[in-house]
Amino acid sequence: MTKKLFDQFPEPSLTFDLIFPVVLDWLQVHSGSINDFLSNEDDWLFVNRDLNGRVRLILPERIKDSEQRMLWDHLASNLMQRLGKHAYPQNAEILFEISQEQALQGATSYLVDGFTNVWVLDRLATGANWARIAPEAEGAPRIVFFSIKGGVGRSTALAATAWNLAQEGKRVLVLDLDLESPGLSSALLPPERQPMYGITDWLIEDLVDNGDVVFESMVATSNLSHDGEIHVVPAHGADHGEYIAKLGRVWMPKLQTDGTREAWSSRLGRLLQNLEERIQPDAVLIDSRSGIDEIASACITELGAKQILLFSLEGEQTWNGYRMLFEQWLRAGVAQQIRERLQVVGAIVPELDRLGYLAGLREHSYEVFVDTLYDEIAPIKIGEVGPRLDGTWKVGGLSEGWSFDEADETAPHHPWAVNWHRSFAGLLSLQGRLAAIDAKEVMSVFGALIDGVSNAVEGRHLL
Ligand SMILES: Nc1ncnc2c1ncn2[C@@H]1O[C@H](COP(=O)(O)OP(=O)(O)O)[C@@H](O)[C@H]1O
Ligand SMILES: [Mg+2]
Repeated sequence: MTKKLFDQFPEPSLTFDLIFPVVLDWLQVHSGSINDFLSNEDDWLFVNRDLNGRVRLILPERIKDSEQRMLWDHLASNLMQRLGKHAYPQNAEILFEISQEQALQGATSYLVDGFTNVWVLDRLATGANWARIAPEAEGAPRIVFFSIKGGVGRSTALAATAWNLAQEGKRVLVLDLDLESPGLSSALLPPERQPMYGITDWLIEDLVDNGDVVFESMVATSNLSHDGEIHVVPAHGADHGEYIAKLGRVWMPKLQTDGTREAWSSRLGRLLQNLEERIQPDAVLIDSRSGIDEIASACITELGAKQILLFSLEGEQTWNGYRMLFEQWLRAGVAQQIRERLQVVGAIVPELDRLGYLAGLREHSYEVFVDTLYDEIAPIKIGEVGPRLDGTWKVGGLSEGWSFDEADETAPHHPWAVNWHRSFAGLLSLQGRLAAIDAKEVMSVFGALIDGVSNAVEGRHLL
C-alpha cells in the first residue's frame, strides 16, 4: 500500500516519514507570503522537529508582538492541522527565540531549497549527526573502517593494515571506537601490554575536566611490527571497570562553564587531536562502531576522515544499510562532501566461486551508488575519457559529473577484496597469526586493502 501524502485534511493518520514531505509542501504552497514576511535579512524561520517527532515553528522574538503575528499564527495552524499527532497543540505552535543560536541548540539543520532563511531542524536523542560532514582533517590522514554489520573481519583487516604500514616504516595510531564490541586492541596487544585506560575512560573523565589523569595511560605500543610503530588506544583499559555504566555516558555533551554545550563528537575530535600531537603519527586508523548509530555517525561524518572503508558482505542487509546512509546524505545536501572519500571493501570473500561472488558484490554495490551518490551522466566507456585528479569526469565535452562505469576498478563502488583464509578464521589471537605467517601470505589475503590504504596515506592516486 502506498502512503497517502496530502489528500486528507486534517490528517490524523500521518506518520513520521510524512512529516518533512508535508512541511516542504506547506512551505511551497505559502512560499510567497513566507518570503514576504522574511524579506528583512535579520528574519528567519525554523521548522523544528523535536525529540518526540512533534513539529512547531521557531521565529525571532520581535515577531511576537508585531503586526505579522496574526498571519504567522494563521500559517502555523494551517501546518499543524496537516500534521495530525505530530503537531504541537494550539497556543504552543510557535516558539519565539532571541537568536538563531539560541534556537538551534545543537540540532541538525537543513536549509530549505528556494528560501534564503528557512531551515528545518531535527533533534535526535543521541546527538548522532549524519548531516554535517567535517572537512578532511589536516595532518596525518585518518582512515575509518566501517561496516553495517559486525563480524565481517573489519578489526582483523585493520590490524593487518596497521602491521603493513608499520612494516613500511610508518608510525601508526590505531583507535578502537567500536566501544560496544571492542576487539581490536586484543588483536594487536598481548594482555600484558594493555594500557590501564581506554577511550571510554577519557570520554567519561573529560565530562568533569579530569581527562588529563587518564590521557598518559591510554596508549600502548604493539610488538607486532619490526620496523615502524603501532600505537594502540583501546576502547577500555586492562581492567574494564564499570564498563556498562561508563558506556551509558560516553555520548554526553559537555556543559562548559559559559553555559554552552560541546557535543560528544567534538570532544572525541579533541581527544584525537591531543593524541596526534603527542604521538605524531603518519597515519591514523579508526575502527568504527558498526551499524547506523551515533558512534558510527561520528566516526564517518565528524572525524575528518580522508578515506572511509565500507566493509561489505554480499546480501540485502548490507546494501539496504548503505542505501539508507547515502540517501540521508543526499537529503541533507552533503553527498558531494563525502562521496569521494568512500571505498567499498569486500569482506571475507569466500574461496568457493570467488569471482562469481565478487561480481555479485560489485553489481549490487554499483546499483546503490548509481541510484544515490553518482551523478546522472551519460555512461562512459573505460578509456574513452578518463577521470580527473579531483575525481570529476569530463564526458564528450557535453555533460560533467561524478560517476563511474560499473567495471571501473578505480571506482569507489568497486570492492577491494579481503579474502577468506584459514589462518585468520577462528578465535586464535591475531598476535600469534600475524607473527607466524609470512608477508606474502598476508598480502594474498589483504593485498588490495593494504595497497589501497598505503596509496591513500602516501597521497598517491590510482590512475
Ligand atoms: N580474512 C579472514 N579469513 C577468515 N576468517 C577471518 C578473516 N578475517 C576475520 N576472520 C574471522 O572472522 C571473525 C570476525 O573477525 P573480526 O575481525 O573480529 O570482525 P569484526 O571486527 O568485523 O567484528 C573472527 O573469528 C576472525 O578470526
Ligand atoms: Mg571488530
